[in-house]
Amino acid sequence: MVNILIKADRISKIYTLFAEEIKAIKDLDLEIRQGEFIAIMGPSGSGKTTLLDILGCLDKVSTGKLNVLDHDVSAFKESSLVKIRRVNMGFVFQEFLLIPTLTALENVVLPLLFSGLPQEHSKAVSLLERVGLGHRINHLPRELSGGERQRVAIARALVTTPKILFADEPTGNLDTKSGQQIFDIFKELNQKDDLTIVLTTHNYKLGLQARRIMFLKDGCIVSREESSLFV
Ligand SMILES: Nc1ncnc2c1ncn2[C@@H]1O[C@H](COP(=O)(O)OP(=O)(O)OP(=O)(O)O)[C@@H](O)[C@H]1O
Ligand SMILES: [Mg+2]
Repeated sequence: MVNILIKADRISKIYTLFAEEIKAIKDLDLEIRQGEFIAIMGPSGSGKTTLLDILGCLDKVSTGKLNVLDHDVSAFKESSLVKIRRVNMGFVFQEFLLIPTLTALENVVLPLLFSGLPQEHSKAVSLLERVGLGHRINHLPRELSGGERQRVAIARALVTTPKILFADEPTGNLDTKSGQQIFDIFKELNQKDDLTIVLTTHNYKLGLQARRIMFLKDGCIVSREESSLFV
């Protein structure tokens, strides 16, 4: 049986800023299944971050119906969205967003505390080992390279055993080699652990390595040809 984790029916996101209405996502239909690895690509301002935030329950749709893990989240209040995302979603961001005064290990343990889960240091250590940082667990973020910081952020995103991992421009602050290494970790998590991954990227070389590529243009899903990214 195909396990559909997310189903969006004609979802839109409208931002109102001063008197202006910006329709960042326009009547979009989408299904995400268990085990998919999706790269969302598109020009700056096409709505990639907005879409990722909505799918990850970090933000609400303005119109349309969004079903996430069998919940109709379109009608959810913020407090309910927090619950569903804490338990089920992991997030990785371009800026890593590590706490500068905590070690790598402490950063990875932190989500367990917020989620009310047992603070299993051994789980955090094995995740840091998994991303190749077993020898850096007591380092502060400033004592790590950019690529290493992003690995800590991936371990932190995984510590609550999420059903879906979302990553917004995860390699945007990294050089080519570190970016590929981070992408290789995503590929392995998807292939070996069947982890569902949805990320955005401006990097075509990396994005094209995902198993499914989604092109956004002006808030709509378009074909590769219509995306004008490869002309
Ligand atoms: N909080 C907000 N308030 C008002 N408008 C916003 C807000 N966030 C995004 N927008 C607008 O919505 C549109 C989509 O923005 P979004 O950040 O989703 O694009 P993006 O594809 O992620 O761009 P980039 O590649 O530069 O990260 C843009 O026109 C942006 O200016
Ligand atoms: Mg963005």
